[in-house]
Amino acid sequence: MTVTIKSPEEQQRMRAAGRAAGAVLSMIQPHVRPGVSTAELDRLCHEFIVGELGCIAAPLNYGGSAGRQPFPKSICTSINHVVCHGIPGDKLLKRGDIVNVDITVIKDGFHGDTSQMFYVGEPAVLARRLTETTREAMFAGIRKVRPGARLGDVGHAVQQLAEARGYSVVREYCGHGIGRAFHEDPQVLHYGRPGTGLELVSGMTFTVEPMLNAGRPEVKLLPDGWTVVTKDHSLSAQWEHTVLVTDTGYEILTLRDGETPP
Ligand code: MF3
Ligand code: CO
Ligand code: CO
Repeated sequence: MTVTIKSPEEQQRMRAAGRAAGAVLSMIQPHVRPGVSTAELDRLCHEFIVGELGCIAAPLNYGGSAGRQPFPKSICTSINHVVCHGIPGDKLLKRGDIVNVDITVIKDGFHGDTSQMFYVGEPAVLARRLTETTREAMFAGIRKVRPGARLGDVGHAVQQLAEARGYSVVREYCGHGIGRAFHEDPQVLHYGRPGTGLELVSGMTFTVEPMLNAGRPEVKLLPDGWTVVTKDHSLSAQWEHTVLVTDTGYEILTLRDGETPP
């Protein structure tokens, strides 16, 4: 496992990439409405990322292998029981849906990765509670970040909050180191035991991106090779930020203007 430590100059470039990724979520917010297709959201984001920000959309053509086509779109859109990596398409959002939009941009050679849930119209009580709990769980994990803390502290904080509210934590997908590469070491699990795992050092950058299910934790990969759904078709939510370990704690690189952690 090779965890890269970013120099002050590289941290500045990660900051710029993170800010750009956050700006895409701010831009798309008013477009996430009943009747819009996820392909249209993808088109709007792609145009903004390339045309306005002068960045690269990292998901486009990412992650191809012998057994799997590369990701065909510029963003991920994951609706209701879709856990993550939903592929934008002709499906129209409808009133009551909850949808995660996941944005990863490359700016000046560095990645910024962030996602949030959107309500399409008014959400049901359970959908709202799951969504808000997932956001709180992400921040509970992030608040543990400081030099000398361990990744198990982060995972434990997420898991404890999630399970106390009766939700389950997805195990198969996790946060990740990020920098010149989209997915670097370490893996950032959203469960764990305090005092265990990698010790954090100033200059590390990684994502915290918990996926919480209203039902059982198990997931299933669809035949398209990307879309991950809950096995029991229960609702799932996810939020993601990219964070930097600073000398005294953490800095959220993808925080948006006007966004206030709980
Ligand atoms: N943005 C996702 C993450 O948080 C990864 C998406 S990979 C893709 O790590 F190919 F589906 F875009
Ligand atoms: Co990520
Ligand atoms: Co992401």
